[in-house]
Amino acid sequence: MDLFEYQARDIFEKHGVPVLGGVVATTPEEARAGAEQLLGGQPGVVVVKAQVKVGGRGKAGGVKLARSADDAAEKAAEILGMDIKGHTVHRVMIAAGAKIATEFYFSLLLDRAERRYLAMCSVEGGMDIEQLAVERPDALAKVAVDPRTGIDQAKADEIVAAAGFDAEIAPKVAAVLQTLWTVYRSEDATLVEVNPLVLTEDGEIVALDGKVTLDANADFRHPEHAELEDAGETDPLEARAKEKDLNYVKLDGEVGIIGNGAGLVMSTLDVVAYAGEAHGGVKPANFLDIGGGASAEIMAAGLDIILTDPQVKAVFVNVFGGITACDAVANGIVAALEILGDEASKPLVVRLDGNNVLEGRRILAEAGHPLVTIADTMDGGADKAAELAHAAA
Ligand SMILES: Nc1ncnc2c1ncn2[C@@H]1O[C@H](COP(=O)(O)OP(=O)(O)OP(=O)(O)O)[C@@H](O)[C@H]1O
Ligand SMILES: [Mg+2]
Repeated sequence: MDLFEYQARDIFEKHGVPVLGGVVATTPEEARAGAEQLLGGQPGVVVVKAQVKVGGRGKAGGVKLARSADDAAEKAAEILGMDIKGHTVHRVMIAAGAKIATEFYFSLLLDRAERRYLAMCSVEGGMDIEQLAVERPDALAKVAVDPRTGIDQAKADEIVAAAGFDAEIAPKVAAVLQTLWTVYRSEDATLVEVNPLVLTEDGEIVALDGKVTLDANADFRHPEHAELEDAGETDPLEARAKEKDLNYVKLDGEVGIIGNGAGLVMSTLDVVAYAGEAHGGVKPANFLDIGGGASAEIMAAGLDIILTDPQVKAVFVNVFGGITACDAVANGIVAALEILGDEASKPLVVRLDGNNVLEGRRILAEAGHPLVTIADTMDGGADKAAELAHAAA
């Protein structure tokens, strides 16, 4: 899960990373109140920042200086509702203004290929870091981090030396990197990026921006992370599927897909997309892997999600019987259709193969549900489902 900047700021603060005050606002009035709170009646500067989960907000006009609380309200009115790379701005953060002397870059991420973490750091941070990485890769230090030791004092010193910080500020930066490691480690993050990490005119090192990605596989260790989820942003079908523990991803097509095993479902998507080319260009409507034990309840839950997707015109169930044999799957489908009753209103193409396939097909044939077509092969099933979806579209 990617976090908003204001959520990253809060987590940074909790672990002792130096940050500035920040207040979230969803209206210009709230922005004014937030700025008043930060300025405390003194003249000064605040920064109004779009809260969207995409980079390059500054360049898109989503980060603006404000010189008073009224000005903050005006800037918030300009930024709220703005579209930044397809993300609508629903919230802004009012941040205390920093007097920036220099901008640096730091990130720590999971290096899957090398099975360790990778720290990247540069004394030339800021909004052009992507360009720097391409044009002068040497200016971006890359240091491998062993997950067992993390960023301890020695590793922090190594990173800071590789990036070429002045001796004067190197120890301060090294200390901040260790607190960022604490964030990474104790929150189970897969990315912590600070751009810019700044040196202020007062000689302090401060994290002025934060991008954090949390590892969903570690959610069980962090019940507190649940409230960081942005309910308004997840697809409602995906949210319902998640509640039922289904491995579901909404796509944009017309053919609903159910299969068992991620690999089989992935190839089913390919086969349906290919078959769809001959049937008006219909495409898969989703990814849904019901896993090994395809019980009637799981099948019903999966069908329920797919059938309530208004874009779906036909469904392709593609199951390879293994430990859960085809007869059990067939019984599951029949029972699921019974559970769903009138809700099951779209044609279903079922292809079963593998363990006990003949018995599975017999059960489906005997049930004779008017919406169910039995297919012998995966290609044949995909073609039939695409044809039915096109006919109903
Ligand atoms: N609190 C602040 N005080 C003063 N200047 C700030 C503050 N926050 C951000 N800035 C300035 O605005 C620039 C852009 O801010 P920020 O990095 O948060 O946006 P960004 O567009 O997300 O950047 P990127 O996506 O490239 O990381 C910073 O590089 C910094 O110069
Ligand atoms: Mg930034």
